Amino acid sequence: MTVRFVLGLQWGDEGKGKVTDYLSDWAEVVVRTQGGANAGHTVIIEDKKYVLHLLPSGIIRPNVKCLITHGVVVDPKQLIDEIEEMRGHGVEISDRNLFLSERAHVVMPYHKLLDGAREEMDSKKGSQIGTTKRGIGPCYADKAQRIGIRVGDLYQENLRQKLEPLVAEKSAMLRYFGIGEEISVDRICDDIAEQREVIRPFVCDTYSMIREAVDSGKKILVEGAQGSLLDIDFGTYPYVTSSNCSSGGLITGSGIAPTELSSVTGVVKAYTTRVGSGPFPSEMDQATGERVRNVGKEFGATTGRPRRCGWLDVVALRYTINLSGVTDIALMKLDVLSGLETIRIAVGYKLGGKSIQTPPACTKDFEKLEVEYLDLPGWTENISGARTMNDLPENARRYVETISDLAGIPFTSVSVGPGRAQTIRLED
Ligand code: IMP
Repeated sequence: MTVRFVLGLQWGDEGKGKVTDYLSDWAEVVVRTQGGANAGHTVIIEDKKYVLHLLPSGIIRPNVKCLITHGVVVDPKQLIDEIEEMRGHGVEISDRNLFLSERAHVVMPYHKLLDGAREEMDSKKGSQIGTTKRGIGPCYADKAQRIGIRVGDLYQENLRQKLEPLVAEKSAMLRYFGIGEEISVDRICDDIAEQREVIRPFVCDTYSMIREAVDSGKKILVEGAQGSLLDIDFGTYPYVTSSNCSSGGLITGSGIAPTELSSVTGVVKAYTTRVGSGPFPSEMDQATGERVRNVGKEFGATTGRPRRCGWLDVVALRYTINLSGVTDIALMKLDVLSGLETIRIAVGYKLGGKSIQTPPACTKDFEKLEVEYLDLPGWTENISGARTMNDLPENARRYVETISDLAGIPFTSVSVGPGRAQTIRLED
């Protein structure tokens, strides 16, 4: 096995950081291919908590080459701050273990302002997406419109010439949104002049590195960000992010051909969460949701916002498994469900009285969706010390076996706590 994808199968925050950290032990190269600083990957090692937004989780391991590819949108300031923070934790980061694509698009200050401004305007109409306000959507929009600034452009003499009309255009948009904040080309150019020198050692052609790594049989881990239900094409549009978070996005974002893939590990939380607005068919009632949120510490790693909590939704799960060709599943945070009398699983969707096998395309149809549940008895025991399936109480075992059967693919690990060791490995 040489090329392994890891991605989230729900609305993000499934616990990919812990899984990629574990798999980084195996990997020689770890690659981030989409999204930007909207991601928040939490890794806990010996009680020390690392929160990564742009850096691949493999950065914590010595001797792992970490690549941020052309598919990622990079805020240079955020990247520099994160590198400094990680160095503060004793993590070594140099041009030997971090590589940034010259083709990656740069998140500019005006992208962040526009992201916030649109959200503000939409919130007055009650239609805001609830973005992370990290400028992700506006940056990808410029990429698609072919007016984006790429990392390589930061070193070109014509940067200022490119920026002048762009800043004029973005200022007009900000005025439309009622934002008085002035953006100045001088200020942006001054900041870039400093930032580009700090990141210069990392900038390179990451695609050639990936090609060489694949051709020489290196062990490559491609780390997804966000979750499949936030995928811009297959997610709950428009309440989605601006990149493809399923396998397709990891393929275009890495340049690794589909036929070169060895496996796709899907990361699934034992329940479901989502941050921000949008349809959520299996959302829990308020009291249960609050309990799960507090026990599971379900607050955004990037924005600190409380996450909405729901039951595991097997209809959505089968959809995202198929979308990405998932070969195995890492089940996360089973311990959080301890103490619930009944555990529900969403097993069917009906729309207009008819069963449907995939989530509807339109937000309005979600409002009419009937969700069918299977109820299983819960367990009261603290399971955070379990290291084999036999250590689990019978009802916890039954829950895992039921969802594995319903999902139709094997679970390779079950996580029972945030620490590296708090994992039941079913197959290595
Ligand atoms: P954006 O990606 O900041 O534009 O936000 C769009 C939607 O995706 C919002 O609902 C965000 O809360 C959500 N989102 C973006 N990144 C993540 C993530 O890493 N985890 C969970 N939700 C995310």
